[in-house]
Formats: sequence, structure tokens, C-alpha cells
Amino acid sequence: MSARELRARRSCHAVPGSNPRFLEKAQGLQSDQVFLDIEDSVAPIAKADARKNIVEVLNTGDWGDRVRTVRVNDWTTQWTYKDVIEVVEGAGANLDCLMLPKVQTAAQVQALDTLLTQIETTMGYEVGRIGIEAQIENALGLINVDEIATASPRVETIIFGPADFMASINMKSLVVGEQPPGYDVGDAYHYILMRLLMAARAHDKQVIDGPYLQIKDLDGFQRVAGRSAALGYDGKWTLHPSQIEVANEVFSPTQQDYDHAENILDAYEYFTSEQGGAKGAVMLGDEMIDEASRKMALVISGKGRAAGMKRTDKWQPDS
Ligand code: GLV
Ligand code: MG
Repeated sequence: MSARELRARRSCHAVPGSNPRFLEKAQGLQSDQVFLDIEDSVAPIAKADARKNIVEVLNTGDWGDRVRTVRVNDWTTQWTYKDVIEVVEGAGANLDCLMLPKVQTAAQVQALDTLLTQIETTMGYEVGRIGIEAQIENALGLINVDEIATASPRVETIIFGPADFMASINMKSLVVGEQPPGYDVGDAYHYILMRLLMAARAHDKQVIDGPYLQIKDLDGFQRVAGRSAALGYDGKWTLHPSQIEVANEVFSPTQQDYDHAENILDAYEYFTSEQGGAKGAVMLGDEMIDEASRKMALVISGKGRAAGMKRTDKWQPDS
């Protein structure tokens, strides 16, 4: 991310704001991010209490260095303005991002940006610090994703919401994350995943895969998470604590790849320098590396560094 801090989001753990026990428990989990929900996991009559619970746990809980996000209701409901005002006025100093679900247009992101700026100014918070995570959950949102990604400098992530998306395009399936029965010629989600990934990479945002609802099927979670990780996604939602460890592993580079990437960066920097002979393409062991290798290595090393990985093998000029 250019202007904003790059945060690890391998596992983005969802917690219903209406459940005090889950809000308490989430503080002890090893997820990179936690998002406290006032949207679809909270019943309409429980939304007012969820706001209060969330303000309370943000201010008094121990969240370590996790990314703390609150998902508000989307702008087509009657709840959004109160969600934003109550949560940000009440706990804005202890909050990193707001997640806006079912985003369809850039104007919806701009409306949230404006409201946030007013609250930050009124409360004396740093203006612009709170980020926005835009959830793309329907056809119009997907078509407008580039404008949505660039609608405000606050936007940090683009998130795929598969359940709402499947409903919005009339997909003939009820099993989120798995292929719709009858479609046997490829991955029915490939276009959507790739489109979001392109928008995120074109505009320097993170891109996050949404939930896998069969929470007892960890193999299934690993398989589906592995697909988006392989494409280049930064992380995935987790709905159950058991999914967190799997997500952290799937979205981290392996230790071997991380060491290799750091070594490519060191070797390339050395060999392109005066001292190393000012070369462009050079050998690292049996492998030829050049500027394109450096770019690929930067991606792996960036993910490893964000995940707090440490090197176990360090290249030296005479090795
Ligand atoms: C998440 O919000 C989804 O709709 O999948
Ligand atoms: Mg949704």
C-alpha cells in the first residue's frame, strides 16, 4: 500500500457484536485481524446492543497488535449512520478500520469517508487514520470495483463476499465456496476472484477472500483458501477459531520461500552495486536472477515480513 501502513491480514476473524462471550474469546485468538460485526451476523433487534458491546470491548479489551475492524451495516439500510457515529465516537481511538459491506458505488465509500472525517474532527482524532475495507458482494459492486478502490485514500482492502454474491447473481447453489452443481468446466469463481485481485493490485490495496461456511470441514477450508492464496490474495475470513491457524499458514510463504526471497533481494542488491560488479542478470547458486526476480522476491518477502517471519538462512557475497 502506498500511503497507508501494510498490515498482515492472513486471517480476518469474524465476531458477532451481539455475542459478549465471542467478543471476549476473540481477544485470545491468533488472528491477524478481528472484525466485530454489526451486519449480517447480528439480528435487527440486537443491533443497538451490538454497537454498545463493541464500543466496550474495543475500549477495555486487550487486542494486542491485531487489526481492529468493525463491520457496519450497508448504506441501503436504516442502521449505517448510527453504527458509524456510535462506534467511532465511542471507540475511534481504539479502532483501525470500518468495513463497509455490499458496496456498489464509489459514492458509498465517499459518504463513509465524509462521515468519518466529520467525526474525527469533532472528536479531535487524527483525520484520515481510520481505514475503510470495501466488501464487494454483488454484480454492480464488481463492475464498479476500480472506482470503489480509488474512491478514498482510506480504502485499504477489497473483500470478496461470496455468500451475498452468489445470491445476487442467482447462482444455483447454497454451498458457499464450493462449485455450483452442474458447472463442470472450471472454477465458477475464477472471474470474480481475478477481477478483484486485478483491481487491488492496480490500485495498491490488499485483497481478502471471504468466508467458508462449512466450519467443521478444515480440509475444505484449506483447499479453498489455498486457491485464493495461490492467485495472490492476502488473506481470508475465519468464522471459527480452528480456521485461524490454517489461514495463517496458507497465506504465509513457506520458511524456505521466505529465506530464498530475502536472499534474492540481498544478492541482487549486491551484484547490481559498484562493489558487486554492477551486473543486471546474475547467478544465485544455480539460478539466474534479474530485475523481474527481484520483483517476485519483494512480494514473498513483503508477505513474510508482514507475518513476522525471521530468516533462517542468510546469503553472503562469497557464498
Ligand atoms: C460475507 O459477507 C458474504 O456475504 O459472503
Ligand atoms: Mg455478506
